[in-house]
Amino acid sequence: MAILSALTPSLPLRERIALSAREGLLCRPKWLPSWLFYDDAGSVLFDQITELPEYYLTRTERGIFETNADDVVAQAARGAQLRITELGAGTAGKTQLLLAAALCRQERIVYEPVDVSASALTAAQEMIEQEFLTVCVEPSAMDYTDGLTLEPRKQNERRLVLYIGSSIGNFEPAEAEALLARMRESLEPGDCLLLGVDLAKDEHLLLAAYDDAAGVTADFNKNMLVRLNRELGADFDLDAFKHRALWNAEASRMEMHLESVRAQKVNLAAANLEVQFKAGETIHTENSYKYRRGDAERLLRSAGFRPELTWTDEHGWFAVHLARV
Ligand code: AVI
Repeated sequence: MAILSALTPSLPLRERIALSAREGLLCRPKWLPSWLFYDDAGSVLFDQITELPEYYLTRTERGIFETNADDVVAQAARGAQLRITELGAGTAGKTQLLLAAALCRQERIVYEPVDVSASALTAAQEMIEQEFLTVCVEPSAMDYTDGLTLEPRKQNERRLVLYIGSSIGNFEPAEAEALLARMRESLEPGDCLLLGVDLAKDEHLLLAAYDDAAGVTADFNKNMLVRLNRELGADFDLDAFKHRALWNAEASRMEMHLESVRAQKVNLAAANLEVQFKAGETIHTENSYKYRRGDAERLLRSAGFRPELTWTDEHGWFAVHLARV
């Protein structure tokens, strides 16, 4: 199952969605790419997920930064001035902790949020500029999965790229390696990457995090069908699909699926597609890889980085790796 659409990003969005729907729903087993989650409603639902008691990832990573932000920036900077680039615009506390720590070491800092969404970038810029007078925000609207085009940094600077929040976990291992290798190509010697990865842990904790009691993750998963109904004139009956989260121990990943509760036929008008479902048949919508000991270091090395340091939380649930070019 490919997580990234291999389709050319220059196609209009509706056509990309139609092609992805055709590609995935004509496959056996059926699948849809996880980028389809993130329309406006999906982004709001994801923000709600990060606040859920069961979704330990965000607060655990934030806790790692609360304890170690000074160390992280000191190790990354090694005495130079830092410039911080963040993939996926972060407005929330985690980025602010790192910026605040960097500002204890240098008077001013350039912060470069990178995101496909212009509205996410505007929100990030407003939030950061309101919070910090000495942060110069230089946003870039681009799809970083295609590679990064960055402003050259100054001689006396080191660039620290943040790729946190376990976003790497939504890529298949080979795609993750290719993505990090592309990132590395846009960096210069001495620059570094801060990579946040979720770790394999007790199955019950994982299942709860991806199937919360309030049903927010279920709504997030089903939002993909809402989106296909809206964008492709599809007629998915939302009550006829159930959210399913499962732990795939062999692949070390959480999986999300949408299960058809009955035999049914769905029409996706704008994709010129009619799809039959058997009762119990599923659409695979997401993989979220949970790294085991040594996995992240191996991945970083094979993408051409030198892993230097790792910070984790008291339970060993989440890890933040610093790796250098
Ligand atoms: C964005 N990504 C890191 C989330 C994750 O945990 O894999 C997406 C998500 N899926 C279900 N809940 C959250």
